[in-house]
Amino acid sequence: MRHFLDIHKTDFSDLSAILEQADKTKTARLGKPKGTIDEDAVLAGKMVALIFEKPSTRTRVSFDMGARQMGAQTMVLSGNDMQIGHGESIADTARVLSRYVDLIMIRTFSEETLLELAEYADVPVINGLTDRTHPCQIMADIMTFQEKHGSIKGKKVTWLGDGNNVCASFLHAAGQFGFDLTFAGPEELEPEAEFVGYARKKGSQVVIERDAAKAVEGADLVVTDTWLSMHDGKDARDRRHNLLRPYQVNAELMKLANEDATFMHCLPAHRDEEVTSEVMDGPQSVVFDEAENRMHAQKAIMQWCLDG
Ligand code: CP
Ligand code: NVA
Repeated sequence: MRHFLDIHKTDFSDLSAILEQADKTKTARLGKPKGTIDEDAVLAGKMVALIFEKPSTRTRVSFDMGARQMGAQTMVLSGNDMQIGHGESIADTARVLSRYVDLIMIRTFSEETLLELAEYADVPVINGLTDRTHPCQIMADIMTFQEKHGSIKGKKVTWLGDGNNVCASFLHAAGQFGFDLTFAGPEELEPEAEFVGYARKKGSQVVIERDAAKAVEGADLVVTDTWLSMHDGKDARDRRHNLLRPYQVNAELMKLANEDATFMHCLPAHRDEEVTSEVMDGPQSVVFDEAENRMHAQKAIMQWCLDG
């Protein structure tokens, strides 16, 4: 069974094959209307379930469109409307869904839900974001970086702000793809030691920095994310905003990075909080390419899962 649960849990050869396939499928669709089915329709006859316990725009639409382009049918399910939201166990849900569908993508609050679903499902399970990681996003981000700059190996990525789930998957990717990562943010919002340790063990240089200006020096890629994630309590908003304000990505900060540095944000962005509109809409920003590449990368991930 090939689940796609996390970047550090997938062999590097498979990650590379997925990105190669993503480039191919993107090129093959150039100029085609978005709703047409790919010539090879590799998922024809398959049913894909997309489960959301949290809001989503990109993940929902990119998985749905990607699956349809490959010839599959899709069903989008809200966790709240399912019996998992009302006491049925994840294990039983996994057993039941495996009788109906060929592939499950889930966006969930707790990583444990994802892991239990994968343990008991007889069909592949894909992580569409948990409280701890967001691997599909970072596969699209690596694809986006490499389209512009070539191999990400040996490059410097600077993450600013909250050491959250998206930052965690960047650390996993640093270990797998061989780039260095500098985190700049407040001590209490540092990424989990386990994830930092993973990247370091794989040979990446991971630097923890308090000073945003120092952190972006020599950066090839500058990344940030919203200051409050969906799994964070709303009551933490004011405290987090005060802690994170020094880490806003603005034009002044971008000037300190390498001249050809790229800016990324997984979106949704809170403009003029973690990033200014000037940077987000500026020439270094690739935020909408990242969003597009979610679809191409995830098509390759779904195909890889089902090829197994
Ligand atoms: N980046 C991302 O996962 O966006 P959505 O929350 O809209 O799916
Ligand atoms: N860190 C954000 C990412 C959203 C795509 C969250 O978990 O809400």
